[in-house]
Amino acid sequence: MQKRTPNTIRRTGIPRSDTRRRSALVRVILRWYSRQGRSLPWRNIANPYRILISEVMLQQTQVSRVLVKYPEFLQRFPTIKTLAAARQRDVVIAWQGMGYNNRAVRLHQLAMRIVQQHGGKFPQTYEELVTLPGIGRYTANALLSSAFRKNVPIVDINVRRVLSRIFWRMKTNTDMKPEREIWTLADVLVPKVGAYDWNQALMDLGATICTARVPLCNDCPVKTLCRSCNYMKRAPSGKAKQEPSRDGIPNRIYRGRIVETLRTHQQQLRPGVIGKAIHPKYSVKSKAWLESLLAGLEKDGVIVQTPKGTWNERRIGLA
Ligand code: ADE
Repeated sequence: MQKRTPNTIRRTGIPRSDTRRRSALVRVILRWYSRQGRSLPWRNIANPYRILISEVMLQQTQVSRVLVKYPEFLQRFPTIKTLAAARQRDVVIAWQGMGYNNRAVRLHQLAMRIVQQHGGKFPQTYEELVTLPGIGRYTANALLSSAFRKNVPIVDINVRRVLSRIFWRMKTNTDMKPEREIWTLADVLVPKVGAYDWNQALMDLGATICTARVPLCNDCPVKTLCRSCNYMKRAPSGKAKQEPSRDGIPNRIYRGRIVETLRTHQQQLRPGVIGKAIHPKYSVKSKAWLESLLAGLEKDGVIVQTPKGTWNERRIGLA
């Protein structure tokens, strides 16, 4: 039987013959990045620990906020060994202001693992990196690309949006192709020379020009190569997806208040006491809400429930 050579990039429908367009795209985007790329403190460094910290911070926090917290955190914990040797509560305190404290807890656990299992040296293969707790495809590739300069793609939400729009005609500003297809496409796009800059450039393009809500198509360096240029409509506004909240305050803040309360009291507390400490109008009617917050924090390893049903801040760490 004759073997068929697929003429499209696997699972994407993008013609393989489109190589001229692809290389033009890489050229134009790299040129734009060399002139307009943002200068950020975690760029063009080769320290995997520093890159890891920036990536974890950037996962759910805006660049402007990370620019403030990143140097502070690194001053407090300058190396993976200092982070691993710290007490968990000190790491969470240093993380304050970033939200999502569970990220600090996971980062700390990861640092301990890298020190215990690898003597504080980051592994340099994808297979080893993804066995570490909290490291998935994105973070593994971000480390491989940024710290070890391997030719691998990085797909975050910005990159997914940018590549979806360039290669397919998106009808609205919220449309995107499935993540798996974008990883496949991103993989074939990575240039042999300049792969690191290419990844950073796609992120910058997504953050500054090809933005989620109002893309600046007329200022875009790839406007003549993009299938969605000036075509997308604004998605019907509907209510934007909001993070769960109570009385206008996001649950993230209540989670922080629970941890603060347990830390300040330094003793086991009953749920009702915690409820009153975090919300002035707490009553048993809100019990289910409080229990879901407590369960979430327990799952993240931040607090523990005692057999009596009271709660404690979890203290783990190296002795
Ligand atoms: N978001 C995630 N990684 C980033 C990076 N290296 N630069 C800018 N934004 C990012």
